[in-house]
Parts: sequence; structure tokens; C-alpha cells
Amino acid sequence: MGKRLLEVKDLKTYFYKEDTIIKAVDGVNFHVDEKETLGLVGESGCGKSMTSLSILRLIPKPAGRIVSGEVLFEGQDLLKLSEKKMRDVRGEQISMILQDPMTSLNPVFKIGNQIGEAIATHKEGRKGTLTSKIIEILRLVRIPSPETRIDNYPHELSGGMKQRVVGAVAISCRPRLLIADEPTTSLDVTIQAQYLELLKDIQRELGMALIFITHDFGIVASICDRVAVMYAGKIMEIAPVRDIFHDPAHHYTASLLKAVPKLQKKVDHLVSIPGQPPRLDSLPAGCRFAARCESADKKCKTKEPPMQEVGKNHYAMCWHQLH
Ligand SMILES: Nc1ncnc2c1ncn2[C@@H]1O[C@H](COP(=O)(O)OP(=O)(O)OP(=O)(O)O)[C@@H](O)[C@H]1O
Ligand code: SF4
Ligand SMILES: [Mg+2]
Repeated sequence: MGKRLLEVKDLKTYFYKEDTIIKAVDGVNFHVDEKETLGLVGESGCGKSMTSLSILRLIPKPAGRIVSGEVLFEGQDLLKLSEKKMRDVRGEQISMILQDPMTSLNPVFKIGNQIGEAIATHKEGRKGTLTSKIIEILRLVRIPSPETRIDNYPHELSGGMKQRVVGAVAISCRPRLLIADEPTTSLDVTIQAQYLELLKDIQRELGMALIFITHDFGIVASICDRVAVMYAGKIMEIAPVRDIFHDPAHHYTASLLKAVPKLQKKVDHLVSIPGQPPRLDSLPAGCRFAARCESADKKCKTKEPPMQEVGKNHYAMCWHQLH
């Protein structure tokens, strides 16, 4: 693995609504090394998207606010940059494929123009005309006959091809880090597999690091190096992918894995753990998972466990770890 690329320290992003505070991201710590793929998993509403949007400082305003923490990208705290400098980071250094990517293409513009705009917004790094750069990017995402496709409108492309174009826009400036927020949920299984292969190829070709957000443990197993398991605004466990699958330390991770019938089977939403996550505007005093954990005792319910090292590159936040 390469050098440290991104380090998120004690990140807190809250939403202020009337007299409540919704703690969407509540003290999140993790890092991503160069060329590495980190998976971010957890049930709906646990704060995966808000964590990634916080990295890019794209939290919905005015209700949402990054309250504290650091987002160190190559050692520089992005939370301290001016908005102008931050605009250079977005797309050029760190790019994101949004959840529901189909809506991120504008139906009234040709796809070539949409990629061209993304390139033109940022610095002209390499030689060649804009058209040749657009064709090169379309070729990189394996769009057949890019010279003609450049003039297509989004509706003239299949779902899988549209997805590739969305990917093309995101990687058009060859970012160091790509955040992909559930980019494959709307695709059928075969197209999804092809897209993941493509993403891995591009990652290798561009030497890019990847944060991949998903509900699907099959995808985690196939593309991630490490996995962060998030629950109610916090990372509960983070470890190399094989340790998450074969030797989980946190009861929530173990429950999630039990809720997946077969690793290869596509699972859209992890809803089979009995009970509900706590409300983010009234979090419990102790472990956030206590109300759903069969091993919860008095200590669990009153005192929040610290993040502890439980193995090599393996950390978990639990009073009664599974190993
Ligand atoms: N605009 C908003 N206003 C108030 N609260 C919000 C807003 N957007 C998100 N939240 C809160 O932040 C929490 C985390 O949301 P986030 O979108 O990060 O979840 P997620 O893990 O990405 O879920 P999913 O898997 O469904 O995409 C939500 O549970 C919600 O309470
Ligand atoms: S700290 Fe206690 S309640 Fe929380 S996961 Fe561990 S055993 Fe369960
Ligand atoms: Mg999300």
C-alpha cells in the first residue's frame, strides 16, 4: 500500500433543525492510503453519504454544518481551505460519483459537452484539444466508438453506458481519490459486475484511491482492501476485508454479516437485523448498538466504548469484542 493520502480525524457534521441537533456524523476517524480501496458500509441513514460529502465540504446548507474535526488530504486540512481553493480540490484532486448517478447527467446536453465542461472547469493539465481529451476519457471508460458517442444525448445511451459516462465525468481530471457512493444500485447484476471491473481497471491505470460506499457485501469482498463499518454516525469497526468477513470483533459487524444470506447474493438494503438504529437527535449514553445487541450489559448501556486495536490494522469499538 502507498503513502497516507487522506486522514479524517474526529469529524462531526450536525444538522440543526428547530430545537434539535441531528448528529449525522459524530466523531469519525479513518484514513485512506494511495491506491487503496476503502469500503464504507452500514444501514441506511448511518451517515455514509454525509461523511463523504463532508470531505468535499458539500453538506446541505444552512441546516448542515461541519462542527469539528480535520480532513487531511496529503497533510493539508481541507476544512481550513478557502472556498476558492476547495473548488480546485473538487474534481481535480478528489472526485465523487453521487448516489443515484443517473440524475447527475443533464438530459439536454450532449455527453461530450458534459465531460468537456468538467475538464474545462479545471486546469488544463495535458496536451491536446478538448475533443481529443473527451474521446480519451470515453475510451478509458470503455465506451465503444467514442468519436461518434461524443455527440449523443444521455437518453441515447443504455443504463450501463450512462453509468460509464457518469464515471467519465468524475475521473475526467484524473483525481487522486474517487468517492463512489453506491454507484451500482440501479444497474442489473451483469452490468454491475462489468462496471466494477471497469472501476478497478481505471483505478489501476490512474493510480487512484477509492472510497466505495455500498450496502452490498459481495461488492465489498470483490473490490475493497479495507472496510469501515458505520453505525449511527460512528465507525464501529475498521479492518482489512478478510478480517471483517472472517474475524469480526464488533457485534454489529457480526449481525450485518449474518443478515447477508450469501456473499455472492446482491442485497440492496441491510434491514434484517431486528430493531432500529437510535435516533440521531437523541443518541443513547452508552454503546449506540446496545438496544439491538444480545451481549449488551449495564456497562454497554451507560458508557460508550473507546475505539481499540484488536489486531493488525484492525480496530473496534466494543466492550465485549468477539475475539
Ligand atoms: N438535509 C438533511 N437534513 C437533516 N438531516 C439530514 C439531512 N440529510 C441527512 N440527514 C441526516 O443524516 C443522517 C445520515 O444521512 P446519510 O445520507 O449520510 O445516510 P447514508 O448512510 O448515506 O444512508 P443511505 O444508505 O440511505 O444512503 C440521516 O439519518 C439523517 O438523519
Ligand atoms: S459495547 Fe456492548 S452493546 Fe455495544 S456492541 Fe459491544 S457488547 Fe454489544
Ligand atoms: Mg447515502
